[in-house]
Amino acid sequence: MAIQTAVNVSLDEALREAEARFSAANPKSAAQYQAATGSMPGGNTRSVLYYTPFPVTIARAEGATLEDIDGHRYTDFLGEYTAGLYGHSHPVILEAIREALDGGLVFGGPNRHEAELARLLCERFPSLDLVRFTNSGTEANLMALATARAATGRERILAFQGGYHGGVLSFADGVSSPINAPFPCVLAPFNDEAATLALIERHARELAAIIVEPMMGGGGGIPGTRPFLETLRQAAARHGIVLIFDEVMTSRLSSGGLQKRLGIIPDMTTLGKYLGGGLTFGAFGGRRDLMRRYDPREKDAWSHAGTFNNNVLTMRSESDSASSWS
Ligand SMILES: Cc1ncc(COP(=O)(O)O)c(C=O)c1O
Repeated sequence: MAIQTAVNVSLDEALREAEARFSAANPKSAAQYQAATGSMPGGNTRSVLYYTPFPVTIARAEGATLEDIDGHRYTDFLGEYTAGLYGHSHPVILEAIREALDGGLVFGGPNRHEAELARLLCERFPSLDLVRFTNSGTEANLMALATARAATGRERILAFQGGYHGGVLSFADGVSSPINAPFPCVLAPFNDEAATLALIERHARELAAIIVEPMMGGGGGIPGTRPFLETLRQAAARHGIVLIFDEVMTSRLSSGGLQKRLGIIPDMTTLGKYLGGGLTFGAFGGRRDLMRRYDPREKDAWSHAGTFNNNVLTMRSESDSASSWS
């Protein structure tokens, strides 16, 4: 059926027309999406990837190019929300993954790569005395917050309106998502040091942690001002509150994250996304006195589990070459 293009249409009509054109151009994606709705709610397992009338299904990718199952090619400006920083097929990364694959999967024991990756991270990020791995940025933030709560014996966390720290730590539109982890929260306005300081002072005795992205990512790419971040640093130190920098996205802004560039050092840092080279990744770490509680040799150690925390594909880093194993 030929689709007519009208002039002076209403916004609704223009949208309907654009959607009709899109559907006609993507019949295989339309069918794929319909099939997916049979076993996943709305055919979706990651909310941000949905758009109307249906998302195109990606068949393959190479370099900076994506191809969908209807054969359209796209230049990828999304970069998997920074997790795809190196593109889709960087030869160094693919070789490291192939080498790791050749050595076998799911060891159920420490491997030769994890300590090297941890060493590199601790060397580069000023706040990291010690670090542990998780499988996502969400999990890293949950672990950092849980660590702060257990270490301080306090319950509440202070986060920022519009902040995003993971699927169960979302404060978009200035409110806690109904599916957030059930940590009692205080929400403060980002970059407003006077209002934030007033909230910190009011809740100081019950606050375990302040969690902040030094540049808000999902909330609009808004850099935290120096006075704002310094206010957080000083107030947290004054009241024994654990200051957590979520550097899941901002870590790429210098060799040691935004903390290194600004010279403002949090008590704990969380990492994720591109540092896994395109594979599932998260890490949390920080001050030795906080992280030492995960040392299993200590009598009072806290247990931190995770079947895939040290999965061999993610842990394999470029400098950890096969020749240095023997
Ligand atoms: C700042 C920030 N923190 C945490 C996360 C959660 O990371 P993940 O999607 O790996 O769970 C994201 C993901 O977009 C993020 O942007």
